[in-house]
Amino acid sequence: MERTDYCGKLRAADVGKEVCLCGWVQRRRDHGGLIFVDLRDREGLVQVVFSPEKDREMFALAERLRGEYVLQTKGLVRLRPAGSDNENLSTGAIEVVAAELTILNSAKTPPFYIEDEVNVDELVRLKFRYLDLRRPEMQEALHLRHKVALAIRHFLDSQGFYEIETPILCKSSPEGARDFLVPSRVHAGEFYALPQSPQLFKQLLMVSGFDRYFQIARCFRDEDLRADRQPEFTQLDIEMSFISEEDVFALTEQMLSYVFEQSLECKIKLPFPKLTHEQAMNRFGSDKPDLRYTMELIDIADIAQVSEFKVFAAVAQANGWVKGINAKGCGHYSRKDMDDLTKFAAIFGAKGLAYIIVDEHGLRSPISKFFTEQQLQDICQRMDAEAGDLLMFVADTPAICAESLGRLREEIAAREKLYDPDELCFVWVTDFPLLEYSLEEQRWVAVHHPFTSPKEEDMHLLKNQPGIARARAYDVILNGVELGGGSIRIHDHRVQEQLFHLLGLSEEESRDKFGYLLEAFEYGAPPHGGIAFGLDRLVMLMAQKSSIRDVIAFPKTQSASDMMVQSPSAVTHKQLLELSLLLDDPRR
Ligand code: AMO
Ligand code: AMP
Repeated sequence: MERTDYCGKLRAADVGKEVCLCGWVQRRRDHGGLIFVDLRDREGLVQVVFSPEKDREMFALAERLRGEYVLQTKGLVRLRPAGSDNENLSTGAIEVVAAELTILNSAKTPPFYIEDEVNVDELVRLKFRYLDLRRPEMQEALHLRHKVALAIRHFLDSQGFYEIETPILCKSSPEGARDFLVPSRVHAGEFYALPQSPQLFKQLLMVSGFDRYFQIARCFRDEDLRADRQPEFTQLDIEMSFISEEDVFALTEQMLSYVFEQSLECKIKLPFPKLTHEQAMNRFGSDKPDLRYTMELIDIADIAQVSEFKVFAAVAQANGWVKGINAKGCGHYSRKDMDDLTKFAAIFGAKGLAYIIVDEHGLRSPISKFFTEQQLQDICQRMDAEAGDLLMFVADTPAICAESLGRLREEIAAREKLYDPDELCFVWVTDFPLLEYSLEEQRWVAVHHPFTSPKEEDMHLLKNQPGIARARAYDVILNGVELGGGSIRIHDHRVQEQLFHLLGLSEEESRDKFGYLLEAFEYGAPPHGGIAFGLDRLVMLMAQKSSIRDVIAFPKTQSASDMMVQSPSAVTHKQLLELSLLLDDPRR
């Protein structure tokens, strides 16, 4: 290859250098008998000047250049004439005077400009992803992702971890999200499942004595998609033997600190604060609280209980929650704003949204008439209310009250821009409940997963009060996004069997689905635990993007399709026959 430099890397120090550049035409401008081409490669743009005096034939060729043509050019780097510097460009002090030009390829006019902040539908960007990825912000995002992965590998290697791959063709098992299935040709009528995570394999690697494992692993879950959820995504998966929660916390904090330092030159504050699940729900109405702002949920059940407001009093009487948040300085919100917020809270089940507006002259509220002067004063004092504030309340079951106020808190923070986008607020959430009751399935399901150890001191609750037993599980949250989660695992086959039993699996089902794990645990399983991080989410937050699609080279749409390759797609009848499959509704 003849190329000597990247376009975007040339600087004043290169003046006088003969260079050979390759790249794409960002723009061609004809000016004063000269042709100026902004030539782009992954490192940025540089201005190349074609002059007819230098070479007539080359100049004629340059006249044929259009946007996105691919070319190679040789020339001399010189300072731009005085006054024509471009301070917005890192190469803006110099230009390249072309001596040779080869057009390597022509290009059709792209469906959108290859530049940042293009105003184009995401579906079009995804259909022409190879062009979208040419845009500088996408190049930067994927470069950052590379740096993050590299820093992770360096760090974990330095801490004695081995990177070990685990299978993609796995076994379908109950619990967790819906599996993606792969039919087996060799075993007619049988299926592999794509892994939702390497969970059981990493535990088995601990039984094998590897002691410290990690993997940057692709995971597959057939679930409803959102901005931070893809059907296939990447986890940084970690497992260790002979450790406690504190070891996982320390390792995570040191690793993230190293990764931020290496890839963004940014220092993060250690150690991360900790909240128990109960505290997080009580104070922020969320198990992934955004701590960049306060606006905590304030309990007023005791005041509500003795008030004349029947709805609140009844909920408080029935051990429900009556809580409020103080949206500071939002007292100017209009009737329509309040209607919108009430509708917003209703999405999460709130039956209403009571409010009090505090202004210099007193309180304005549809509910103040139900409270005595003293009660109103107590509420205001407890909520630290000042003139200009808006207090909002929900009375409901703890779950609905927490979720609706928790979401409202986030909504207000977003509306009012209550945080600095550069701020990083990490927090550990610990002591999750082990189980939750699924009304739909009429049984207990694991909050984390069925391999999570109950807390030693709560073991006795498993028999009669499983709903209040806590797990040795933890999540790490960054700015309100669940970055990672893990637990100390069960390593005793009797406890594991007990848990399967609690989850409603018969002995036969446990043996059928998880027999290999139970068996492995009978051959000297070490105590172990670990964590997995959403790598896409980590890079999304580091790159300050609002969707993980912006940090994945070839993501799927919200409806799990790939717009570019057009998948999923139908297959031939012959392929189905080979797999012994018959479609219920054959499309051809
Ligand atoms: P969990 O299910 O919490 O734990 O997943 C770990 C992390 O993976 C990320 N994540 C996702 N990212 C993008 N799209 C998705 N659909 C998606 N689902 C999850 C999140 C999450 O915190 N085996 C356990 C970990 C363990 O116990 O060690 C597990 O998979 O950032
Ligand atoms: P009502 O007496 O039903 O007109 O309600 C008076 C105010 O209380 C309205 O602003 C309702 O939105 C609000 N409200 C009603 N039920 C609840 C509830 N469960 N939690 C919070 N606010 C409520």
